[in-house]
Amino acid sequence: MSKLSGAVAIVTGASRGIGFAIAQRFVAEGARVCITGRDTEALETAVKELGGADVAIGVPGKGDDADHRAAVVDAVRDAFGPVSILVNNVGINPAYGPLAGLDLGAARKMVDVNVLGTLGWVQEALRGGLDGGSIVNISSVSGVRPAPGIAFYGVTKAALIHLTEELAVELAPAVRVNAVAPAVVKTRFATALYEGREEKVAATYPLKRLGTPEDIAGAVAFLCSPDAAWITGQTLVVDGGLTLTGAVQ
Ligand SMILES: NC(=O)c1ccc[n+]([C@@H]2O[C@H](COP(=O)([O-])OP(=O)(O)OC[C@H]3O[C@@H](n4cnc5c(N)ncnc54)[C@H](OP(=O)(O)O)[C@@H]3O)[C@@H](O)[C@H]2O)c1
Repeated sequence: MSKLSGAVAIVTGASRGIGFAIAQRFVAEGARVCITGRDTEALETAVKELGGADVAIGVPGKGDDADHRAAVVDAVRDAFGPVSILVNNVGINPAYGPLAGLDLGAARKMVDVNVLGTLGWVQEALRGGLDGGSIVNISSVSGVRPAPGIAFYGVTKAALIHLTEELAVELAPAVRVNAVAPAVVKTRFATALYEGREEKVAATYPLKRLGTPEDIAGAVAFLCSPDAAWITGQTLVVDGGLTLTGAVQ
C-alpha cells in the first residue's frame, strides 16, 4: 500500500483511538505524520509505535490553543516539509443530558475545541503551505441526526459538516475537504455508550458490531487518496448501517 507516498499529514488528537489508527494507516500507505494530543508521554509512545522519527513526530498541546497549532505546522515543515493532509480529529464532549439544562460554559468549550479549533487548524495548515492536498474533519452521526443526551456535541458535529461544505467550495480546486461521520467506535471516548452492554448495543447495528478505529482510518485514508480525487464537500457516514434504522447511538 503506497497510495499516500510522499504525503505529509497532521492528525490531531492521535495518541490513541481513531486518530492513532488514522496515523498508523497513513504511515502504512507511505505518508509521514505529525500527531498531537495533550499528554506528552502518550504521544512519545505513539510515535515509537508508528515507527519513530523517520516517519512520525508528536507535538503536545491543546487543539483549541492557537500557539500550539502554529507550533505544530512549523514543526511539521521543519521535519518533513509542507503539510499536504490535515485530519481534524480532536473532539470533546464534556456534557451529557438535555439541552434545557446544558451548562453554557461546557457548550462554549465544545464550540471552541470542536468547531473553532477545526477552523483554526485549517487556517494554520493553509499558512503552512497546504496546497494541492486534502482535509478530513471527523464529525459524528450525532451531527447527522438528533442524538438525545449528547445533543450539543451533535450540534458542533453538524457545524463541522457545514464547515466542510463551505471550505470545500472555498478551497477548491487546490484542496479537497471532506468529513467522516462515525457511529459508536470502541475507544476510551465512547466507553460510556457501550461498556458492560456491548453485545446489546451491537445488536442494534445492521452489521451487528460496533466500529473499530481501523474502520474509520480506512475511510479517511480513502478520502485522502487519489481514489477520491473527484470527491469534495462530502460526509461519509461510517456506522455499520445504524442510521438506516433511525437510531444514532
Ligand atoms: N469513538 C466514537 O464512538 C466516536 C464516534 C463519532 C465521532 N467520534 C469522534 O472521533 C474523534 C476521536 O475520538 P476517539 O473516540 O478516538 O477518542 P479517544 O480515544 O479518547 O482519543 C482522543 C485523542 O484526542 C486527544 N485529545 C483529546 N482532547 C484533546 C484536546 N482538547 N486537545 C488535543 N488533543 C486532545 C487525546 O489525547 P490526550 O487525552 O492526551 O489529549 C487522544 O489522543 C473525536 O472528534 C470524536 O468526537 C468518536
